[in-house]
Amino acid sequence: MQEPETDIVDFGYEKIPASEKNYRVENVFRSVSSHYDIMNDLMSFGLHRIFKRMLIEMSSIRPGDRVLDLAGGTGDISALFAPVVGSTGQIVLADINAAMMEVGRDRLLNKGISQVEFCQANAEQLPFADQSFHCITIGFGLRNVTHKEQALNEMQRILKPGGRLLVLEFSKPQNRFVAAGYSGFQSLWPVFGKLITGDASSYTYLVESIKMHPGQAVLKQMIEDADFETVKYHNLLNGIVSIHRAVKAQN
Ligand SMILES: C[S@@+](CC[C@H](N)C(=O)[O-])C[C@H]1O[C@@H](n2cnc3c(N)ncnc32)[C@H](O)[C@@H]1O
Repeated sequence: MQEPETDIVDFGYEKIPASEKNYRVENVFRSVSSHYDIMNDLMSFGLHRIFKRMLIEMSSIRPGDRVLDLAGGTGDISALFAPVVGSTGQIVLADINAAMMEVGRDRLLNKGISQVEFCQANAEQLPFADQSFHCITIGFGLRNVTHKEQALNEMQRILKPGGRLLVLEFSKPQNRFVAAGYSGFQSLWPVFGKLITGDASSYTYLVESIKMHPGQAVLKQMIEDADFETVKYHNLLNGIVSIHRAVKAQN
């Protein structure tokens, strides 16, 4: 008889064997991929665009740098990186989900950006050499990863000494009135999802995954545990979203 799997992880509020999580997450993003961008604008009133600009501002990237847009999905962050790294730089968009990258490839080409290399990969096992990127961003991706510590260790491995990691993610509002109002607004997301994409369950997962994701201080500790230095976070919208910035130590 087969032993039951002991590695149990969250999928929203559900507890599932770790071996099933990537498949379940993949189904969510395959289902939402064609409406992902419009839903992002709707659910954030377009504010996600500002958060992503702030991420780029905080990345200290320069022309010629090699950057990784991890869990890059439909390519918003890569599009913002492109004019900054310039023609001598290199951008790799890595994501576990082919459908999201398909949408991203088309969007970037429509914007006239052809310098982005796409790579289907799991953040827990990145197919890149040690010390090969100046900067890694992961935007609204980390909370979907099965073993977040393993992914952070991988990011540490492939960053160059002095390289920066930036994690843009939903976080915990600091004020209880903001938290209550936000929670009420989130309860509408599955309704919007059903109306616009015909799929309520993916948006239920989205809300639950946000609520289960570690808060600012816990995530900071996780990044420090992965051997990053000068880990700082910046709350946006009272902590509904946060950006964690960390640096890999110089040798
Ligand atoms: C909410 S989307 C964010 C996309 C984009 N970064 C943005 O901010 O618009 C989350 C992305 O994470 C990807 N993802 C989930 N788990 C992953 C993993 N283990 N490794 C790499 N990408 C993953 C999903 O496929 C999806 O494209």
